[in-house]
Amino acid sequence: MKSASIAGFALASAIAMAGEGTLTIDLDKLGPKVSKSMYGIFLEEINNAGEGGLYAELVQNRGFEDANLPPACKLQNGFLIPPRSNHFWENHPVDYKLAWDVPTNHPAWSFEVPDGSASTIELVTERPLSKASPHAVKVVSNGDSPKIVNHGFWGMSFKKGEQYDLSLFLQGSPVKVSLLNAKGEEIGSANLTASNKKGWQKLSAKLVAKETDPKGKLAITFSKGTTYVDFVSLFPHKNVRGLRPDLLKMITDLKPAFVRYPGGCYVEGITIESRPQWQQTLGPLEQRVPTYAPWGYWNSNGFGYHEFLQFCEDIKADALYVFNCGVSCAFRSGTYLPDEELPGLIQNTLDAIEYAVGPTSTKWGALRAKNGHPKPFPLKYVEIGNEQSGARYGKRVKLFYDAIKAKYPSMKVILSSWISGIDRAAINAAEKIDIVDEHAYTGANWAISHADHFDRYPRNAEYDLYIGEFACNADVANGNMLAALNDAAYMLGMERNADIVKMGSYAPLLENINRREWEVNLIHFDSAKVFGRASYYACRMFAENLPDQMISAQLDYKPTETKGIVGPIGLGTYGTSAEFKDIKLEIDGKPVDVNQAGWKPRTGDWKVRDTGYAQLSQDWDCWSYFGDGYHDLTLSLKARKLAGGEGFVVSPGEVEGKRLQFNVGGWGNGKNTLELYGAIQMVDGHVDTDRWYDIRIVTKGREVTTYLDGKQVFKHTPVRADPVLTNAGYDHAKGELVVKVINPGSESAKLTLNLPGAEVGSKGTVTSLSSPDLTAENSFDEPNKIVPVTRSLTGLSNSFIHEFAPHSISILRIPVRRTR
Ligand code: AHR
Repeated sequence: MKSASIAGFALASAIAMAGEGTLTIDLDKLGPKVSKSMYGIFLEEINNAGEGGLYAELVQNRGFEDANLPPACKLQNGFLIPPRSNHFWENHPVDYKLAWDVPTNHPAWSFEVPDGSASTIELVTERPLSKASPHAVKVVSNGDSPKIVNHGFWGMSFKKGEQYDLSLFLQGSPVKVSLLNAKGEEIGSANLTASNKKGWQKLSAKLVAKETDPKGKLAITFSKGTTYVDFVSLFPHKNVRGLRPDLLKMITDLKPAFVRYPGGCYVEGITIESRPQWQQTLGPLEQRVPTYAPWGYWNSNGFGYHEFLQFCEDIKADALYVFNCGVSCAFRSGTYLPDEELPGLIQNTLDAIEYAVGPTSTKWGALRAKNGHPKPFPLKYVEIGNEQSGARYGKRVKLFYDAIKAKYPSMKVILSSWISGIDRAAINAAEKIDIVDEHAYTGANWAISHADHFDRYPRNAEYDLYIGEFACNADVANGNMLAALNDAAYMLGMERNADIVKMGSYAPLLENINRREWEVNLIHFDSAKVFGRASYYACRMFAENLPDQMISAQLDYKPTETKGIVGPIGLGTYGTSAEFKDIKLEIDGKPVDVNQAGWKPRTGDWKVRDTGYAQLSQDWDCWSYFGDGYHDLTLSLKARKLAGGEGFVVSPGEVEGKRLQFNVGGWGNGKNTLELYGAIQMVDGHVDTDRWYDIRIVTKGREVTTYLDGKQVFKHTPVRADPVLTNAGYDHAKGELVVKVINPGSESAKLTLNLPGAEVGSKGTVTSLSSPDLTAENSFDEPNKIVPVTRSLTGLSNSFIHEFAPHSISILRIPVRRTR
């Protein structure tokens, strides 16, 4: 490495400044009315959200059916393979496969026979309990207590002194059922004997736990003779209509106006044959056909269509049920029902609607009454398909729409757009539609730097817009404060554009931390505990403070000038070993000593060698940094790849605390990219092994220019991700102005709030969610690290000053009366 004498370089000011500005809210300038249904929830069977989550059943694989392959799939070399027939959109099969991690034919159960015993335990189909539950366990015991043990969903949570309600189907000899602690010791038990000697008999027991253990298990021990057992169920007695109270509370605290269910990709299935079918989820539990979630597990459908509708009614939310449109998941197989089968599918959808809202004189309305609910359920919306696309899909929607509207004119019908944006081809082909559902998963700082996203939507749309799935879910770890700021910025834009955006729901809602199928989820839980991420509290604050009409809010704000691109310089690799040499750094034309000792490896295996500074591991995301506070620089070096799947990465500093980087031979060694919260610019690019490349990066303020082998590749000025964002609305019922202010930056923002034409009450409140650290997160250990704090505001008048903390989401409620 080149060694030169230290020359002066400028360090960025570490002193936090306050930006200043004015926010003028003119009560005479009323904006659009805000839909009461602006915030709902999207509850998908993903991440064991329902099964092993909200649905309180403690036994996993209660019907012994979880080793079944999903319909129409086959198993090849440990992978599930859907049929390789043509995709609905594309005229060729999709190359998708899913790892099949099912170790035995009795997942979640262990079969335990004493060593050397002649007793046997096996899974059989000779005594089917029902069509839906053909497998059962057969035990031939010679009296030495063979047993089967269920491990629950990564443990069963037992609490000392609490009751657990067990039921099972039995034929044959008596059994003992026991609650076990994690060590396998019995902490509660009961004996069950079938009086009926022939056929299945349902038996039940109340078990009381003598200990608290979040990792408990359930054992069934068999006495001498031949015994069959099936459909073993255990519920905590403390449940709310079969649901886990702690998760239910987290959900109801979000005050959802509606619930979208059951997916998502779940609605569509890996294959069209494995799609969920609502009518199979009704009636006695042991007769319900399980559904294979494309997220890799079986749903027993204990929380079925009826329970979903009941849940909506109980939490006073409208139901939004998503029906399959005859096409399976576009990512998984795109297999579909031919057009000739659509009339049957549409009739099936009409039947489901009849079940939910039809009079009890109808076939399906009568079944609803028989199932205990004569009154109609609050089904208000039906969505046709999920994340589909194109005219062919739109034509299908039209058929559903016409049939549904003919019978249920007030039912709102939703078309689901492909991810990001509105699918014009589908909408045109549908001809008429009530609501279009757009999905928006964005990276860190996208929402903040695209705050005007919805402002630019056409105003003359003939449908309402529903953002059915939104989340900032890249570069925000498990969901940190930065994610919450972005999610809040996104919701701010939805509200400001309330004339077109009528509904929204964050996605996904729930994550059993033992099965993360999606990178960022709102509420995390295990068998015993639950916490909400920072974005959970942002969503809650927005739902709790929904105005009924927007008001014009003019913000004039200037953050303090920063040095733009500033920070340490960095060298990095992704899954690749590489070497760097001749590293030269100049600030204002003066060299800085980039000496060997000064490099600080953070991840990877960095070695100073004769040939250069090498990173020898092939781990992902290996970095070493030098110095700090550099800006307006020229950084040049040579780099070569030694081995691995990509090239090398060089960073000239950070933009608002986030690393900016020139990735050469990135993205599987196919692209050169400029990256900051994901790729900003991208061109084709490839790196050869063992060839030295010349890299040069020049920064000036916020502008960066990168060169490869003397040729300019990128020139870019990142937008500022620290503006203050705001909106204002009126809560007529309470006579309060609701002002939302997001300050994503690292300096506080001092705003003068001017309220011309208003009589302002002297006392209000401010609720804030903030953290000094953008990367801070809530966790099981620190569930309340980032939670909203409400305090009163005094001395309010037509013009007052309020200082908004760095990295904060604030909602002011100010009593006002219009005076003009
Ligand atoms: O929310 C997770 C998934 O994201 C949904 O299943 C799907 O609709 C989207 O792609």
